[in-house]
Amino acid sequence: MTVAVGRVTLEHPVVNGSGTLDALAAEAAGLHVAAELAAVVTKTVTPLPRAGNPPPRIAETPAGMLNSIGLANPGIDAFRSTVLPRMRALGRPLVVSIGGFAPNQYASLAAALRDEDGIVALELNVSCPNVESGCLSIGSDPNETRSVTARCAEAAGDLPVWVKLSPNVADVGVMARAAEEGGADALVAVNTLRGAAFDRASGAPLLGGPGGGLSGPAVRPVALSAVAACRAATSLPIVGSGGVGSGQDALAFLDAGASAVAVGTAAFREPLLARRVREELAGLLAAGAGRPSRAESRARSAQPSTAA
Ligand code: SIN
Repeated sequence: MTVAVGRVTLEHPVVNGSGTLDALAAEAAGLHVAAELAAVVTKTVTPLPRAGNPPPRIAETPAGMLNSIGLANPGIDAFRSTVLPRMRALGRPLVVSIGGFAPNQYASLAAALRDEDGIVALELNVSCPNVESGCLSIGSDPNETRSVTARCAEAAGDLPVWVKLSPNVADVGVMARAAEEGGADALVAVNTLRGAAFDRASGAPLLGGPGGGLSGPAVRPVALSAVAACRAATSLPIVGSGGVGSGQDALAFLDAGASAVAVGTAAFREPLLARRVREELAGLLAAGAGRPSRAESRARSAQPSTAA
């Protein structure tokens, strides 16, 4: 089950989506979720502490969930002094998600984290739809994406840089290529799809923040399409993210061109989901040994027929 995501070797292909797991709180509650993950991905850290968006911050929708958290986090200083040492003590590889409101903020975060032990990669969040500026405004512009990736790749030293892309763009392949040109090691595809919901009785928005992001099974086909587009546009390894709730779902992401998958929304109901996904995927891969991969099938169908 070992997979390589660029320079990072993972024990198996299942990680968590940034912001969907408080691994420390889970541990305190006796749920050893981190142990089930090939790497633990942190909530996005920004330069300064952020309280996040006003409540309500989540709302259920048919086959999905809307969130508008607004990048609530303690800021990089408290993250390094308080959170990171406890995350490190979990004994799992850490991927730290970083976000900001201008390219220099991402680069300063990368520089602050480059020499910290236990971190195997940085994930650039250029795709959060729930803040007024930064993040998605960077990730929906190929020049900004290329430039912020290049600045972080330089500032991060030997630390691999993954770029988390948004489905809220006309062509995610263009953003994937920009990240590759900027020196990304891997892509994470995708963050949430912009969404909104309104209370039937009052007509008021169900979320308190300025934006909302849809996740869960409803977005899986969107995420699979984005992974396939990234696969076609670049040669970077991809972590597929969006509605993974079973080994079968994970296999679909591998078929679309991903090397690993992130679980998120479904783990709110089933905290140890990562274990089930990994076990089901292992079974499916063993049962399907010899099944041509999507890439092999494509290559075969592209070859001229030699039949008489
Ligand atoms: C949030 O904090 O609003 C969600 C994180 C994200 O969409 O990247």
